[in-house]
Amino acid sequence: MTIRKKLIVGNWKMNKTSADAVTLVQELVAEVCKQTDVEVVVAPPFTAIEAVGKVLDGSSLKLGAQNVHPEASGAYTGEISVGMLRAIFTNYVILGHSERRTYFKETDAFINQKVLASLKGQLKPILCVGETLAEREGNQTLKVVQTQLEAGLEGVSKDLATSVVIAYEPVWAIGTGKVATTEQAQEVHAFIRSLLVKLFGDAVAQKVRILYGGSMKPANAPELLTQKDIDGGLIGGASLESRSFVDLIKAAAAAK
Ligand code: PGA
Repeated sequence: MTIRKKLIVGNWKMNKTSADAVTLVQELVAEVCKQTDVEVVVAPPFTAIEAVGKVLDGSSLKLGAQNVHPEASGAYTGEISVGMLRAIFTNYVILGHSERRTYFKETDAFINQKVLASLKGQLKPILCVGETLAEREGNQTLKVVQTQLEAGLEGVSKDLATSVVIAYEPVWAIGTGKVATTEQAQEVHAFIRSLLVKLFGDAVAQKVRILYGGSMKPANAPELLTQKDIDGGLIGGASLESRSFVDLIKAAAAAK
């Protein structure tokens, strides 16, 4: 019997106008607003986040952001602070996504600053880690994951660690339709859990949710979500349409 509630997060990336986002989230709320077995988060683009938050108000669904800046305020053109997100009741923030690491050159040290600033401001970080295809083929998967995890969580206290969510996202599986096998995913998830035990002790490590991300779909979700250390999913493509996202939530509710 796991103490971890399953968590399904929709990462909408750079998709949907504010109006389209509201339509999608209205459909989701209508379908899953009474869902309490699974925690559900949607992370719209910044232009839609406040409007989506208003639709979510009073429902069990929670609001996530796709990025945040570590500074509280100031001359950082184009950036958004933790306080701004909390002021509109954002609960989670996706950090260290491979797209941000690759296209925006985010380093482990910068991601770590964001993790610490988020925790300080009561915004729950979803820290993404994962290897590229070349790294997997070069047998570097566990090493890469360990480096990203330890650097991303540096300075996080035991007390705050239970507010952190980890997302294992093999880069080669993101948006490609190539999902990791359940064995590949569970192996890395168990390894991440063992690293969390070393960092924070067993009691804390057993409470931290570790999500799988990378081409998760209703068809492959049931097998992934029944793995011992897979506590939910970070969903890109399949979160953009209510039918598939609702089916993923149902798959998480059914997974024991
Ligand atoms: P995908 O994206 O589900 O479209 O593969 C997952 C992610 O990038 O978080």
